[in-house]
Order: sequence, then structure tokens, then C-alpha cells
Amino acid sequence: QSGPEAAAAPLVVAHRGASGTRPEHTFASYDHAIELGADYIEQDLQVTSDGVLVDMHDGTLNRTTRGDAANCTGAVNTKTLAQIKTCSAGSWFGAEYVNEKVPTLEELFQRYGNTVNYYIETKQPDPADHMEEKLLALLDKYNLRTASINNWQVLIQSFSADSLKTVHAMDPRLPLIFLGNPSLATIPSYADYAVGLGPSFGSSINANWVNTAHASCLDVHPYTINTVANMQAALAAGVDGMFTNFSDLLIGLLGDRKA
Ligand code: G3P
Ligand code: MG
Repeated sequence: QSGPEAAAAPLVVAHRGASGTRPEHTFASYDHAIELGADYIEQDLQVTSDGVLVDMHDGTLNRTTRGDAANCTGAVNTKTLAQIKTCSAGSWFGAEYVNEKVPTLEELFQRYGNTVNYYIETKQPDPADHMEEKLLALLDKYNLRTASINNWQVLIQSFSADSLKTVHAMDPRLPLIFLGNPSLATIPSYADYAVGLGPSFGSSINANWVNTAHASCLDVHPYTINTVANMQAALAAGVDGMFTNFSDLLIGLLGDRKA
């Protein structure tokens, strides 16, 4: 296979950027993850009321933005991008990040282009939002579709099998990751449309589970692993990478394997 599974070392996926030490899903967070040397920066997608893809985990603005209540509280999909851009996306985390804004996915592509790898999550997609179509249109606009197919420069992940199947129907060559903890018996079925699985990490994600995925040519990238002990347990199970808020911790642990 041509994907990063051929890489010498497990992949470091910067969950929401370097979100352990920076406000999640901001340029500050992504910039720092890239500086640290993460292999991928992760984006969660939400859609604004005027149809723009933005990088935000929650369906509401309440936890990670501050500003005028009319603009900066409530559901993301009830606010225009202009409203959301009035909010600080950093002050909730630290006063020094007050000028951080909620980035659009397009702004990320403009900022980093093809110099980084993206691990993009369609989050709670409502078919009426056409999130998948918008995502693929942006990949084309920034010449990332071919790089995604050939080099896995963009991985698309979702808890929603329907969302992944929607993408797969539009372009079966795109590399997709199903988020979830399927039973051993059902793991092989995900190879129909996905190249990997992103399980919540726990004791069930052991060598047997990982080997079963590998037997179906599915990579395994568990989330979200923030302690050395759990990183070591995941590596011992044979995972191909993992999501972490602390890329530096994982890169340090991988040491020479990452050099
Ligand atoms: O994609 C891995 C992880 O990001 C899934 O959980 O809720 O942090 O998006 P969440
Ligand atoms: Mg996510």
C-alpha cells in the first residue's frame, strides 16, 4: 500500500492541534503541533448557518469561544461566519490567546497548503449541510485530493458510517477512517470503505484487536492518548499511530523511531 502505514514509526496525530498546551482548533494550536513535528493535525468540522466549514469540536460555541452572547453562544449552525468571527477562540484557554479566531477549513488550507498532513473529521453531519461535498470541493480547490489519494496527505474520519459512505460514493479512492470500537467479528466489514479504524483507547484495544484489523488491511489510530503509560500500551498493542493532545510527549517517547 502507498499510505503512511508503510512509515517506519507510528503516526503522531495532533488532536485538535497541540491542544494540551494551546487553545484547541486555533492557528496557535495547529502551528505549535507542526513546530513539534506531529505527522498530522486534526480538524473537527462544523458548518455555519451560511454554509461555511469551520474547525470546531463542539456543536455550540459556548465552551471554546468568548464574546457577545448573541454571536458567541448557541449552536454553530445558527450563526453566520461573520458572527463567529467576532468571537475569541482563545481567551477561554488563556488571556494571551485572545486574538485567536475560529478558523475556517479554507483558511487552514491557505495557511498550510500542502506542507502538512490533515486528519479531518466530519462531525455530526446533517445530510442537509452537505458537509462532505463542501469538503471535497475544498480539497479540489487546494489541490489536495490527489495528494490525499496518493500519499494520505488528507485522511477523512468520522463516527458516522453514513458520512464516510457518502464520501466513498463520491470518490472511492479517498482514504477514510471509521471512528469507533467495532467487535472483532465486525472489524473486517469496515474494509469495504475505510483504510483504518480510530477506536477510543482502552483495554479492549489490545494486540488481538489490532491484529484483527491488520488482517483486513485496516490501520489502527486510537484516540485520545495523553499519558506515557497509555502511549506505551498502545504501541505495545501494535497501533499504527494515535491521537494525542501532547505531540511532544509521544514524539519524545518514540525517540529514534521518529528520527
Ligand atoms: O478523531 C479522534 C477524536 O478526535 C474523536 O473524538 O470527540 O475528540 O472528536 P473527538
Ligand atoms: Mg475529532
